[in-house]
Formats: sequence, C-alpha cells, structure tokens
Amino acid sequence: MPEAFTVLIMAAGMGTRMKSALPKVLHPVCGKPMVEWVIDAARAAGAEHVVCVTRPGDGVAEGLPDWVTVAEQREGEGTGAAVLAARAEIEAGAAPVVVLSGDHPLLSSEVVAGVVERYRRDGAAASMLTTRALDPAGYGRIVRAPDGDVARIVETKDTHGVTPEELAIREVNLGSYAFEPRALIEALDGVGEEKGERYLTGVFPLLRARGLRVVTHETADTSAAQGVNSRVQLMEVEAIARHRLIERHALAGVTFVAPETVVIDADVELGADTTIAQGVTLLGATRVGEACEIGPQATLIDTVVGAGAPVRHTYHTRAERPARATLGPFAYLRPGAVVGPGAKVGTFVEVKNSNIGDGAKVPHLSYIGDTDVGPGANLGASTITANYDGRRKHRTRIGEGVKTGIHTSLVAPLDVGDRAYTGAGSVITDDLPDGSLGVARSRQKTVEGYADRAEEESRR
Ligand code: UD1
Ligand code: MG
Repeated sequence: MPEAFTVLIMAAGMGTRMKSALPKVLHPVCGKPMVEWVIDAARAAGAEHVVCVTRPGDGVAEGLPDWVTVAEQREGEGTGAAVLAARAEIEAGAAPVVVLSGDHPLLSSEVVAGVVERYRRDGAAASMLTTRALDPAGYGRIVRAPDGDVARIVETKDTHGVTPEELAIREVNLGSYAFEPRALIEALDGVGEEKGERYLTGVFPLLRARGLRVVTHETADTSAAQGVNSRVQLMEVEAIARHRLIERHALAGVTFVAPETVVIDADVELGADTTIAQGVTLLGATRVGEACEIGPQATLIDTVVGAGAPVRHTYHTRAERPARATLGPFAYLRPGAVVGPGAKVGTFVEVKNSNIGDGAKVPHLSYIGDTDVGPGANLGASTITANYDGRRKHRTRIGEGVKTGIHTSLVAPLDVGDRAYTGAGSVITDDLPDGSLGVARSRQKTVEGYADRAEEESRR
C-alpha cells in the first residue's frame, strides 16, 4: 500500500471563454462535473485528502462533494497564486502534495499515480507530468540541465523572448505535479510576478538552486493534456469520455448496436448481456439489469430497469421496473412509477407516482396517476385516472383482477374493489365493491329514420 498524499486541485481560473453563468469546472462531462472527474482520478490514485482551490463566491464550493476541503484564492493571479491559497492545507498535509488542474477531466488515475511514483523513486523535491506526443505550441517547454533533471520551464503562450532553441523543444509540461510540501511553499514565496501572474512553474529553478531534484514522468496518454477552455473543447472531451464509458461497458458484456448514437452518463450501471439499441439516452443514476433490451429510442433518467423484457421507444424519469415488465413502445414513466414483474405499460401510456401490480396490463392510451393498480388488473384502452380536482391530488385504488371498459374515467379519491368491472365510457365517481360492475354513462337514445328526414329537410 503506497503512503498517503494530499491532492490540490486548481479550479479558480476565470473560465471566461465558456461564456456561461455556471463556473467552468462545474460544467458536466457525461453528467458529472468536470472537477469531479479529476477528484475521482485523484482518489483512485490513492489520495486521502483532496483540497480544491476556488474563488470566493464563484459557486464551485457548493458543487463539490462535502468531503473535499475548499481553499479560497482571495488574492493574486496565476497557478502559483492558486497553490499559495492552500498554503495551510499544504503545510499540514502528508507528503507529497499532488497539484492538478480542475479543467482536465480526462486525467487518469494511472497518470497521477505515475507522477507520485516518480517523485518517490527519485527522492525528488518535485516531479511533473510531461509528453512529447503533442504539438507543443502554447505549452510550457521542459528545459533540461546537463544532469538530465529539469532546469526550468519556458512558457510559450506568448513566444516573445523565447529563443529558437527553446521553441524547438518538444517535451511539454502537462500541468500535473507532485511536490515536497515545505520545499514547494518556500520556493513559491520566492517566485515573483510575470505579466501580472505568479507562475507555479517558477519554483523549479529555485528548487534546483537549493540542490533539490526536479524530475519528470513522461506519458503518451495525451488525453491527460486535454484542458477545457471553451464549449468546443468540452464537446471534444465529452466525446472521448463517452467513448471510454461505452467501451468499458462493452468489455463487461453489454452490446451496443449503434454506439455512436448512445448518450450515457458516468454513473450509469448496465448488466451483462444487455443490448443497447440505437438512439438510447441513459442518464443520472440509471441502473439496468442483466439481459435487457433497451431501445431503439429510449430515454432513462435515474431509472431502475430489472432483468428481461424489452424497453422500446420510451421516456422514463425516476421510475422503476424491477423485472420482466413490458414497457412501450411510447410509454412515459414519471417519478414514482413502479411497474411490477410481468406487467405491461403499453403505447401512449403515462404513469406517475403509481404502482402497477404484478401482471397488470395498461396497454393503450391511458393516464395513471397516484394510483395503486392491483395484480392482474386489465385496464381498457383510454382508462384515465382523474387524480386532480384543481386544488389537490387524490389516490385511486384499483383492486386485484379488475377489468375496466375502454374510456373509463376513474375520479379520485376512489376505491375499485377486487374483480370489479366498469362499463365502457363510464365516469366512475363512487367506490365499487368487490366483484361488482359499475356503469356510469347516459343511456343510448335511438332515433329511427333520422337520415331520411334529414335529407328531405335539406332538399326543401
Ligand atoms: C499551465 C502551465 C504550463 C503547462 C500547462 C498545461 C503555468 C504557469 N503553466 O499553463 O507550463 O504547459 O498548464 O496545461 O502553470 N488557476 C487557478 N487560479 C489562477 C489561475 C489558474 O486556480 O489564478 C487554475 C485554472 O483553473 C486551471 C489551472 O490553474 O485549472 C491551470 O491554469 P491555466 O491558466 O490553464 O494554465 P496554463 O496557461 O494552461
Ligand atoms: Mg490550461
């Protein structure tokens, strides 16, 4: 088990290019805030304490998990100022302190662990992540000393005063580091401002001047470098993240018929032998069991789907189908809809805050709200619960084995007894006892010879 370390995530950049009221690092990537991807990578790499640097009142703190410590960057600009904002946390924390950027959501735990490992193995004061696999334009270039360690970093966002030799360097700094905490703080205190910013990268020559080692962990995984500054980059990063999620599920036994048409959030769980067809959107805490067929065209939001039976052309939000119930095509399950085993919620049926009992069927054109439908009940086409009187909602109970005729309106509060029937077109306002028939419609009036008379009249 490696020793503990502290992770500091810099997340106090202005993010102006996002053109958004939402702080940049809270923009979701596959449903999870950007900064949380970095927090998760840090945790998976073994971080025991995570500190996030934010700006006072920027709203980032509110969007973080509560176990993350917040340090506010109240003064100064630049990555050096960001780190100094967490001075107390760094001085109190375990060595090393790992510094990451909150806008690099694709950073992997392997890469973070690699930087820490290099720091430990080389007994260095600092290690940093680098790559030669990118176009180096705009990045900090790694200038090496004759002994092979890092001498300094040359920032090249602005190439003014940068020598051709420095510009020819391909190895760049990817902005993830491990530092010996005390050495870091001491060195940072000695870094001055450049162009109104205090650069974290200014510490390296100072560490070397004290005879300390600055080393690198080189990676070929360039996604660690994918920072997000605009929504265009957000789209690019999300496409990669989504592709990785789908690949992970596929390796765990899930078939994706048309993966490029699937939208999936980070925390979605899918069982083995499940098939995700074309045009499926799986969001939030959705959990799908084994051997399910989802889609084509289904949206599941925070929804639980148990094993078996297809879910086609449907929209479900905060609903549950524990097992083997048929949903859709064109079913709309809203929060609190629970559809029991063997039940059917068919075409153009909306269910809200209701339990559909085992084996019960609601096949066509219905609205079922605030209702408990008993096992084995069969609701005729266009059975509607009138659950709202204009002021309050009321519940309906439909007993076991009930059969409603088509176009039945059930006006809540209402209790329909077990094995009861209703006549087609009835508006049922009174409770029905077990085994009864409720008919509530006006009687038919038949006018003989009507057509002949009507035609005669129009000829006159
Ligand atoms: C930094 C490195 C550069 C490296 C590049 C890799 C410095 C001086 N340079 O440049 O060598 O090649 O990363 O991506 O560090 N932040 C704050 N407070 C601030 C300013 C920034 O918290 O006042 C945060 C940002 O939100 C971001 C991170 O620090 O998460 C990095 O800042 P950024 O401005 O993107 O640095 P780069 O110019 O990319
Ligand atoms: Mg950057």
